[in-house]
Amino acid sequence: MALATRTDRRSSLARTVWNSSVGKKTVMAVSGLIMLLYLVVHMIGNLKIFFGPDEFNHYAHWLRTVGEPFMHYEWTLWAIRVVLVAAVVAHAVSAYQLSRRDLRARPDRYVHRRARATYATRTMRWGGVILGLFLVWHLLDLTTGTVHSGGFQEGHPYQNVVDTFSTWYGNAVYIVAVLALGLHVRHGFWSAAQTLGAGSRTRDRALKAVADVLALLLTVGFIAVPVGVMTEVVS
Ligand code: HEM
Repeated sequence: MALATRTDRRSSLARTVWNSSVGKKTVMAVSGLIMLLYLVVHMIGNLKIFFGPDEFNHYAHWLRTVGEPFMHYEWTLWAIRVVLVAAVVAHAVSAYQLSRRDLRARPDRYVHRRARATYATRTMRWGGVILGLFLVWHLLDLTTGTVHSGGFQEGHPYQNVVDTFSTWYGNAVYIVAVLALGLHVRHGFWSAAQTLGAGSRTRDRALKAVADVLALLLTVGFIAVPVGVMTEVVS
């Protein structure tokens, strides 16, 4: 009985936090930082393509065997995938609900909707939609091979990446997405820091600088791959 009451109290606390705007912003900040960590690691891993097919394919194979013999083949990778999917869903759902709340809160929402959303808010919303669509495309392209331009080869990501960036639309899709990612991270990192209470008058300049550097590193690091293939440094 006492246990049931404690569990009820805890779940109603979780519901209260989730229903509050601060709670949703916190979920957005934490899920965003988890995805950001993954992206930094993914970007560094991608740069191994400049060291040739053996090194890049070996790295992709290692991603599947990491943690062995304690972990079975692909267990660690699947654990990472579960965390990432949870982060993407939590981020998207809280963003959608916060946007709806924001629009509902405006008495003159039909007349001034466009004028009143700030430039940053609109960029974040559109950027988020572009990144969500890109992610679906990217997984169908380089993970499952469903929309891949060449003959997709399981276990040969080097050749798959070269095939993708040998088409104009492959380059266009990835470059547009990576530019959207840079803008999203630049504002998102700073927003997350404010939500999590890291902002202050003295720290804001430093936080903005960190956001700029992170966004620039990710943009340049990811774009280096299609540029490498286009210029035949990677072939
Ligand atoms: C030029 C840019 C990019 C390249 C060349 C690239 C390359 C790849 C490759 C080759 C894979 C398959 C790895 C494997 O199966 O071993 C992959 C998976 C993935 N990429 Fe990217 N990627 C890029 C940008 C991005 C961006 C911007 C995002 C996120 C917005 C992203 C998110 C992911 C995710 C979530 C996976 C699935 C990981 C898994 O479950 O195995 N990638 N990427």
